Amino acid sequence: MSTVDLEAKIPNNVGLRDNKRLMRALEKWQPQFIDWWKELGPSDFNGHDIYLRTAVGVGKGGWAHFDYVKMPDYRWGIFLADAPEDRKIHFGDSMGEPVWNEVPGEFRNRLRRLIVTQGDTEPASVEQQRMLGHTAPSLHDLRSLCQVNVEEGRHLWAMVYLLHTHFGGDGREEAEAMLERHSGDDDNPRILEAFNYPIDNWVDFFCFTTFTDRDGKYQLASLAESSFDPLARTTQFMLTEEAYHMQTGENGIGRIARRSAEIMKEGRDPAAEGAIPLPMLQRYINHWASASMDLFGGEDSTNAAESFAGGLKGRYRESDGIYKDPKALQQFYKLEVPNDDGQVVEKEVPLRRAMNAVLLDAYVADCTRIVARWNRDLKAHECDFQFKLPNRKFNRHQGVYAGFRFNPQGEIIDEATWTHEHKNWLPSQADRDYVKSCMKACYEPGKFANYIAPPTKGPNDTPIDFEYVKFH
Ligand SMILES: [Fe+2]
Ligand SMILES: [Fe+2]
Repeated sequence: MSTVDLEAKIPNNVGLRDNKRLMRALEKWQPQFIDWWKELGPSDFNGHDIYLRTAVGVGKGGWAHFDYVKMPDYRWGIFLADAPEDRKIHFGDSMGEPVWNEVPGEFRNRLRRLIVTQGDTEPASVEQQRMLGHTAPSLHDLRSLCQVNVEEGRHLWAMVYLLHTHFGGDGREEAEAMLERHSGDDDNPRILEAFNYPIDNWVDFFCFTTFTDRDGKYQLASLAESSFDPLARTTQFMLTEEAYHMQTGENGIGRIARRSAEIMKEGRDPAAEGAIPLPMLQRYINHWASASMDLFGGEDSTNAAESFAGGLKGRYRESDGIYKDPKALQQFYKLEVPNDDGQVVEKEVPLRRAMNAVLLDAYVADCTRIVARWNRDLKAHECDFQFKLPNRKFNRHQGVYAGFRFNPQGEIIDEATWTHEHKNWLPSQADRDYVKSCMKACYEPGKFANYIAPPTKGPNDTPIDFEYVKFH
């Protein structure tokens, strides 16, 4: 077990005290981070006492501590999951060799790009959500938002630690650039397109945490298999926190749907009383599910093949030994691709080139389970409406389906059909205006805005009417 230094200026289990040079570098970065947080983090809630969990260790049980804290005083720490000392590379070309504690020269650029791309999304999402607190539907939800935000901040710390420790001067420059790019900035935007739009209503937020954070889970999980041990252990621990973000989303959408079902059960129309009609919620699900699938990258990708061959990025749960051949050689993935005649045909892609598609398969299976849970709850509330996860071909802007039109069932359609139908499939401006009109802040303990049902339980076994955020 690693030793956790909680007294240090930067709490950590990476022995910062014994690495003065690194400690100084990170202590220099810290005030820049705090400035960024105050300027672009959650607007106006920095003086409130918020009941937050803070990571204090990496053990399975009891890794976090709950207490009131002002967000700028949050103890953003650096934690790597413990791992066996003799861990071996378990997939790709170098299988069986010891994992690396330092970055091999040949993979330096590729690893740096993976870390920077992941790292950039963490502060980006905080920036996207910075105005949301003003319309929080309850103190419970305001707390959840702040929890997600401080943890995304910690994830940035995790990536910055790797850059500072293992990538020398260019790592330090990359760490600074993380705070210089800003979501939506015309001149210096965030790296991934999806992270450049504000998330200013709670339907988008819950969809984002359900679908986009879940993309994050799969990216982190594939990096947690990495032969670069510090990256594997860092991302492993990030996944522990990520689970709560996805729960926030899943429960949030579930609670909005349940509220609408309750209203419908009483014979009334959700649209007439500031709740969200279920077909409208379905359009938001279609948008966010498809936008998040784009984040997996091309289904047929040499880049993905090289990252797998090099042992940098594995498949989901690769180390559990669930795949036939950990080298993924002489195997093919059956990929459906549209051809020039507008027909979808099956193409055999060498498995290594299809690693993004393989990861997407795991993601789609996971999302399918979430949608089924929402539907069970709707049934339990005597509601006939059932959500559907859009087919992976629908509304894609990256990968083999980009540039073609598909309906949510995954059937190829012509442009005229798309033009005619897409407003039934994706949120329209009218939907956005309506959702916006429903966003009313509710800061009274135990009370909830009209469009959302209360959760079944609070974090850390708190009662629902707990004062999660103290307004002074
Ligand atoms: Fe994150
Ligand atoms: Fe997250």
